[in-house]
Amino acid sequence: MNLEVHLDADELARTLRADVTTGLTASPKWLPPKWFYDERGSELFEQITELPEYYPTRCERQILAAHADGIARHTHARTLIELGSGYSTKTRLLLEALTGLETFVPMDVSPSALTDAAVRITAEYPGLTVHNIVGDITRHLKFLPSGGDRLIAFLGGTIGNFDPAERAAFFADVRAVLGEGEHLLLGTDLVKSPSVLVPAYDDAAGVTAEFNRNVLHVLNRSLGADFDPAAFEHVALWDAEHEWIEMRLRATRAMRVTVADIGLTADFADGEEMRTEISAKFRREGVRAELAEAGFELDHWWTDPAGMFAVSLSRAI
Ligand code: AVJ
Repeated sequence: MNLEVHLDADELARTLRADVTTGLTASPKWLPPKWFYDERGSELFEQITELPEYYPTRCERQILAAHADGIARHTHARTLIELGSGYSTKTRLLLEALTGLETFVPMDVSPSALTDAAVRITAEYPGLTVHNIVGDITRHLKFLPSGGDRLIAFLGGTIGNFDPAERAAFFADVRAVLGEGEHLLLGTDLVKSPSVLVPAYDDAAGVTAEFNRNVLHVLNRSLGADFDPAAFEHVALWDAEHEWIEMRLRATRAMRVTVADIGLTADFADGEEMRTEISAKFRREGVRAELAEAGFELDHWWTDPAGMFAVSLSRAI
């Protein structure tokens, strides 16, 4: 097992400062969702995946369990690259099925998630080479290993955190690292009734609200900010025009927040809302067209029996 680092703590801190400066001086204010995931945030996200209202993880696991053999047959993958792999919990289904697999390459911004997962996977699959890459999937795809018969997996519906322009850039980057005939396995949550979508992002137990507010704790700890997280309310709404869920934090009183490490003050009006995440939902035709634009042919589209979530397999052409 080895660990290749393209994103060190310094660069991560610089990126955070730049993102927070941009987001808190914008109107309306916003913060990128990637800063949810410190240790506490990752733990809260794991709890979200087990909530009764949050169906995506269960549905995707069901699809992978049903079609892992098909994925293996279709791709003959010798290298599996998993982007934003986190703790690689669903990856096992693929590792089991991909019988010709030689190398597993998880890429994530969190070195601790990578090494934890790699230790477990190395123990379970002694013949498999695990090559960990600490990197940002929007900037470091060029460091992925070359070779043939590679399968890039981007699961969980995380593609939904990107807006359409970011998705186009991302798909083009993925296509650029692949050779003709290599594959992309993509997990996408699907458009459905807001009566199902909204509770998935606003659960009764309040775990998602805590997850949302966690980004303020991250800013307090890493940048010396003085947010009062309890003074912000969780908001989840369905944007029918863009077909995405938007999460926001709403100030419950007027307040001035100072971010000491970047010498920034931000004033919030009573009721002011700050966007913290978009989670786009998809339709088959939209996914097909976006992938085609980037040079992929969508070969397979699998959903769970209830049609909530889709996993698609596309080939670089
Ligand atoms: C990890 C981006 C797939 O958008 O559903 C879960 C994050 N946010 N609940 C999603 C999330 C609120 C999740 N992704």
